[in-house]
Amino acid sequence: MRVVILENASDIAVQAGNIFVELLTDKPNAVLGLATGATPVPTYKYLIDCYKQGKVSFKDAVSFNLDEYVGLDRNNVNSYYYFMMENLFNHVDMRKDKVHVPNGVAENLEEECARYDAMIEEHGGIDVQLLGIGTNGHIGFNEPSDAFSDGTYITDLAQSTIESNKIYFTNGDMPTKAITMGIGSIMKAKKIILIATGISKAKAIKAMIEGEVTPACPASILQKHDDAVIFLDKDAASLLA
Ligand code: GLP
Repeated sequence: MRVVILENASDIAVQAGNIFVELLTDKPNAVLGLATGATPVPTYKYLIDCYKQGKVSFKDAVSFNLDEYVGLDRNNVNSYYYFMMENLFNHVDMRKDKVHVPNGVAENLEEECARYDAMIEEHGGIDVQLLGIGTNGHIGFNEPSDAFSDGTYITDLAQSTIESNKIYFTNGDMPTKAITMGIGSIMKAKKIILIATGISKAKAIKAMIEGEVTPACPASILQKHDDAVIFLDKDAASLLA
């Protein structure tokens, strides 16, 4: 795992964004693994700017998002599908039929999990996976637990996740379950970029980088990935030795 400490969130957005620009330049039909949350928003803004300046195109790309709330359909303003449209895809030339986010209202959620993993495989796997991190060390919605998960599955959200994310739910209660790519699915990505900013992430970052590899800190599994790069601002890196 390569750790890069940068001055601020804008520098992280440029570095992380440029990895996607280079990927799409070399491989226009790349498979992008994308994340939600506040942290990737500047990276998406940077990518939109690059698109507007003619430096990148998404027209042949395919994307798979990490997760979705169970019970929210794609038109719900709090759904991660909606988030991706608002924060990236509505502003670039991505084909909407190439955008994949797990379906949180599928009639059969188990089938949806299997279908999602199969689709990623059919597209040849994820080329670059972008990740944020929860204050408890979660990636996607893989919460701390006794064992690392494998493929996409339905999970109960940790109380701390509910507390952190419920501020976004101004209309309606926050769901307590999510459908998420598992640790096994995430680790299959050819390259992983994890970005974190702010002091609230410092403890999780220290556990991820300097702690043992344990499902109690799901992000610590990235120590075992061959090509994982971690971009941190000074606050997120502040507890590192
Ligand atoms: C959510 C998402 C994660 C994200 C995390 C951190 O729960 N499922 O993918 O990394 O929260 O979010 P933020 O970037 O807003 O701190």
